[in-house]
Amino acid sequence: MRRVVALYRSSVGKKILMAVTGFIWIGFLAGHMLGNLKAFQGAGAFDTYAHHLRILGEPILPYKGFLWIFRAVMFLALVIHVLLSWQTSRLSWAARTTKYRRQESLNFDFASRWMRWTGVLILVFLVYHILNMTTGTLHAGFEAETTTQSFAFHNLVTGLGNPWVAAIYIVAMVAILFHLWHGVWSLFQTLGASHPKYVGWRRPIAVVVSIVIFFGFVSIPMAILTRIVHLQ
Ligand code: HEM
Repeated sequence: MRRVVALYRSSVGKKILMAVTGFIWIGFLAGHMLGNLKAFQGAGAFDTYAHHLRILGEPILPYKGFLWIFRAVMFLALVIHVLLSWQTSRLSWAARTTKYRRQESLNFDFASRWMRWTGVLILVFLVYHILNMTTGTLHAGFEAETTTQSFAFHNLVTGLGNPWVAAIYIVAMVAILFHLWHGVWSLFQTLGASHPKYVGWRRPIAVVVSIVIFFGFVSIPMAILTRIVHLQ
């Protein structure tokens, strides 16, 4: 435990923890995007998938047991990621010299400002998204699940069928695109891919990951707006 605290306190440790928690969320995004793509297979496939997430691990775990463990891990990773980004921003503001600024530090400033603003937008979206698709608080036609049946497809299609809601989702996915564009590159740098053998791969990997995730997600509101995906 002392080691974890020491890691958290050191500036290298902060970077590593940010990279690892970022990586955990990228894994979640990839899985969530693939799950969402089941919408193209219709209500049956989508609802079965959503229902299985709730009964995963039964009977060893109770109904939704796995989901709650998963939520706790994701929440912890998010809190660490956000807290550390706040702390490292403050450290870099404190260390900033205004007398002499090289191009490199201007580029760094631009990237970190970009990460901060897209990060805030993603956080606001996440709160809205959970109130919209999980609790149904901000969703007029929301149907709550039962222990035997999920209505995730109905909630998805009726929610994103509203062009204003779809627009919110599309704007948020643009923020995700930009956040990952720099984030994935930076993550590889922190986790040691600075070796000359791998350096050339960092940018292409970051571009491919962010573009695949962007189009994978954006295809859902687009397909619902154009009625390619619709209620039966
Ligand atoms: C167009 C983009 C997206 C669509 C269509 C979408 C769709 C959905 C749907 C339908 C659910 C409810 C699933 C269920 O009840 O099983 C959900 C839950 C969730 N989504 Fe998304 N999502 C999108 C993007 C995102 C993004 C970018 C993030 C993260 C930054 C995210 C994070 C979450 C979280 C944390 C939950 C709650 C899971 C839970 O605890 O039950 N989603 N999403």
